[in-house]
Formats: sequence, C-alpha cells, structure tokens
Amino acid sequence: MRISREEMLAPTDLPFDKVPPYRVKVVEYTEPTTRDQRKQLIKEVQYSACNLPAKYVYVNMTTDSGTSAMSDRQWAGMWLGDESYFNSKSWEPLKKALQEFSGMEYALPTHQGRSGEAILYEAFVKEGDIVPSNMHFTTTRAHCYYYGAEPVDMTCKEYYDEHDPSWFKGNIDVEALKQLFIEKGDKIGFVELVVPNNLCAGQPVSMQNIKEVREIIDKYKKRDVIFSLDIARISENAWMIKKHEAGYGHMSCLQIVQEMMSYADVSHMSAKKAALVNMGGFVTVRDRTNYMRLQPKLIRLDGFLTYGGLAGRDLEALAIGLMEGINDYYLEDKQRQSDVFANACKKLGVATYNPACTLGVWILAEHCLPHIPKHQGPGTALASQAYIEGGIGLTSMDSLHRGHLDPDDPTNYAKIQLAPFELIRCAFPRRVYTDSQYEWCAEALYKAMEWGDKVPGYRRFDMGDARPQLEDRDFGTHTFFDEFEPLFEHP
Ligand SMILES: Cc1ncc(COP(=O)(O)O)c(C=O)c1O
Repeated sequence: MRISREEMLAPTDLPFDKVPPYRVKVVEYTEPTTRDQRKQLIKEVQYSACNLPAKYVYVNMTTDSGTSAMSDRQWAGMWLGDESYFNSKSWEPLKKALQEFSGMEYALPTHQGRSGEAILYEAFVKEGDIVPSNMHFTTTRAHCYYYGAEPVDMTCKEYYDEHDPSWFKGNIDVEALKQLFIEKGDKIGFVELVVPNNLCAGQPVSMQNIKEVREIIDKYKKRDVIFSLDIARISENAWMIKKHEAGYGHMSCLQIVQEMMSYADVSHMSAKKAALVNMGGFVTVRDRTNYMRLQPKLIRLDGFLTYGGLAGRDLEALAIGLMEGINDYYLEDKQRQSDVFANACKKLGVATYNPACTLGVWILAEHCLPHIPKHQGPGTALASQAYIEGGIGLTSMDSLHRGHLDPDDPTNYAKIQLAPFELIRCAFPRRVYTDSQYEWCAEALYKAMEWGDKVPGYRRFDMGDARPQLEDRDFGTHTFFDEFEPLFEHP
C-alpha cells in the first residue's frame, strides 16, 4: 500500500472540482450491441431494465449498489484477509475504522445492508408500532410490515415542490414528527432517518434536521426510542452539508459524519454504496446493552460477531473502502461528475430534479414525455426507450413502480397512490464511468424523448395465478416482482 490516508488528503492546488483524484489501472470491456438487438432484448425481458442481462447494458446506472470499482489499496488489503472463523485478525482494522467513522463503541459486521436492518428491526420494532422516517427505503419498509408495524414517511414539504431552491429536500418534516410523538408517542420506539434520502431523488438531510430529530425524541418520547441512521451514502450527504450548510465548510467530511452520528443511537450501512465495496455492511451501536441484544440475532441470521456473513478479505476491503469513500477530494470529484451529467441533460432539455446531489441524478419523466399520464408510467416508458437508443440502464421510480401503498390497506394494488414525481434514478457506480459516458447517457435520454407520443405508456401486467399471492408480511418487497407491459410497441 503505497499511499496512506493522510497522503491522499495532502494539501493541493490541483483542481479536483475539475478532474478526479485517481487514475485507472484496470479496464473492463463491454459487449457492443445494435439498436435492433436492444429493441428485441428489452422486449424479451418484459421491458424491465433490471431484468436485462447486464452484459448488454453499456452504461449501467440502474444502481450504485455493489457496483463500485475498488482501488489498488483495497485489492492489496484483500490479500491480507484472515479467514479464521472466530476473531479473524481482519476484524481488528474494520472495527477500528467503524469506531472512528461512527464515534460509537460497538459494531457488528453484516453481509449487506438489509441483514443489519433485520437484526435492528427484530430487536427494537414491535407489532402495532409506528416507525417514522423521512422516507423508508424498500427494505426497512419491508421489515416494518414483517414485524406488523406501520412505516410512516414524513418527507419535508420542500421535496414536493420541484422548483424549491433548498439544498436539503431530503429532511424529515420535524413539525409533523413532533405532532406524531404528541399524539401517538406510545407507539414509537424507533425512528429511521435515511441520509441522504435515496427514494426522494437522493436529496440530502441537513445537520440541523438531524439535531432536531434528536431533540424531539428526547423531549416527547413516551417510551424508550432508538434513533437510527440509514447511512448507505452518508459520506455523500456529508459533502452537501460541507458545501451548503452554514458553519461546516471548514470541516472534513469525516468530521461531519462523526457529528451526524453523534445524535444517533444506532446506524446501519449497506457498505455496497459509499464504502466502495462490492459486498458488505455493518451496524454500529452506542449502548452496550443494545449491542448485546443484537448479538444473538446476528449469529442466527448472518454469522459470528467478528465476520457477520463476510469473508476475512471482505472485512479488509471494507475497512479501506469506508475511509476512501469519505475522502474530501474524492467526494468533490463525485459531485463534479453528477453536475457534468445533470448539466448535459439540462442542455438537451431533459428535465432533472434539482438540485443534482452527490449520489446521482433523477430525471423528471413527466416533463420529458408529457403525453403519458402518471398512472401509465412515463418513467418506465422513458427508461425503456433510452435503453433502446443508447444501451443505458436506468431505474424507473415512477407511479407504476413506486406509487405509495395505502397505509390502511397495504396489500391492495388497486389502492396504490400516484407518486409525487415520475422519477427515473440515474445512479452513479462509483469510480467506474467517464464523463463522456455520462454525456452519452444524456444524449440517449434526449433521443428517447424526441420520439414524443410514439413512446407508449404502460400498464400493470397481471400474472394471474402464475405467481403465488405475497403474504401480507412480505408485501414491502412487491416492487421487485411487479411486471408491466407497454400499451403498444416501442419505436
Ligand atoms: C438507503 C438504503 N438503505 C438500505 C439499503 C439496503 O442495502 P442492501 O442492498 O445492501 O441490503 C439500500 C440498498 O439499496 C439503500 O439504498
């Protein structure tokens, strides 16, 4: 390992707001396709970009999860992996990194984000509870249903106004949270804040908002309450705080993360995102008794306390990747690349949700294909057409895919409510694509949009009895199984 963490952050006048702080050592070739092939391929997989064989997706922005390029430092670290079952020596550097990153004494490795959530929700969420959040991610929502609790999303009002110029549109609505505690505090034992708010166009959460949640919990709680941070991309949230929240410009992103964490009782991370590994996760815990509550659950679900479902070499890669992912120069460059893509879209008239955040860019499909009504999935339609045009993979988060479940009748498809925006998520696999590839994605979206009303709307495809009925407790996962079909052929 030739370069240390400190050396990576040495003072510089190199412009990392213009160029990346790293260079490329290994490249991966892609399999070229033609437009005709792509049209056929997407038809064969029922027009779902997520079902496409990945080898046929040229620029794959369907997800940033587990898709990072690891550094030479991480690959070198993997050779040091100790594969002992109990107390692997590879746990030591990771434990130390987690304590430093989180400021919490206790940590548990997990094989990915959702297995960490599973032990937390099993330990702290009871049947009949309400679990408020700024917007639950799919899996924490699913855990709520699984334990008979109600996930309640309380995204701030600014998010619902696409023209609102605020920087922190991922916040929780603190007034609504306070009110909920006053009225139903006896049912609240767990509060989940997702930083940044992945399902709300990746919008960040401000330090002020996190502080206020802590204060509300302390002042209004009617029973023990755990304040949990879902930190899959916390480093990227920290960059937005550094840049746009008064009083943080002089701090390193690591210091900002440490302050964010200082308000929480636990955190859980899908390390497949901002920690720059292809597999891994963890939970951090402030209180010893709570940590001990989680131990038996981790052992039952994931593995022993010092490996949690990961190989020794994965622990090594994670310890290094976590700290590379919080490097200020790297984050500056990541924001720069987001801006390159967002600006390329804007220049071509492809509408984006503003502001573009550090983790990726969200397209407002309703403005790109205004002839398609919300219930016919303009995001689904635009994403399919953009694949045909440019071989790019995007994830639709429109009303068809992400309409809200009726809280009083969550298993009834007919009652799914329209989403506030017809979003497409363009996620950025970290350290993987070049600026020109992102510019190509903007061009593919533009070409798709240019077809206008020749692009079809969609409807839900009813599989009838071919798919077994989802059990109520499994319902939160439905977006991964739902199928749709276009009303007529794509051009
Ligand atoms: C905000 C957030 N939380 C949790 C998860 C779950 O993580 P994993 O996929 O590692 O189980 C994800 C994954 O996509 C996520 O985006």
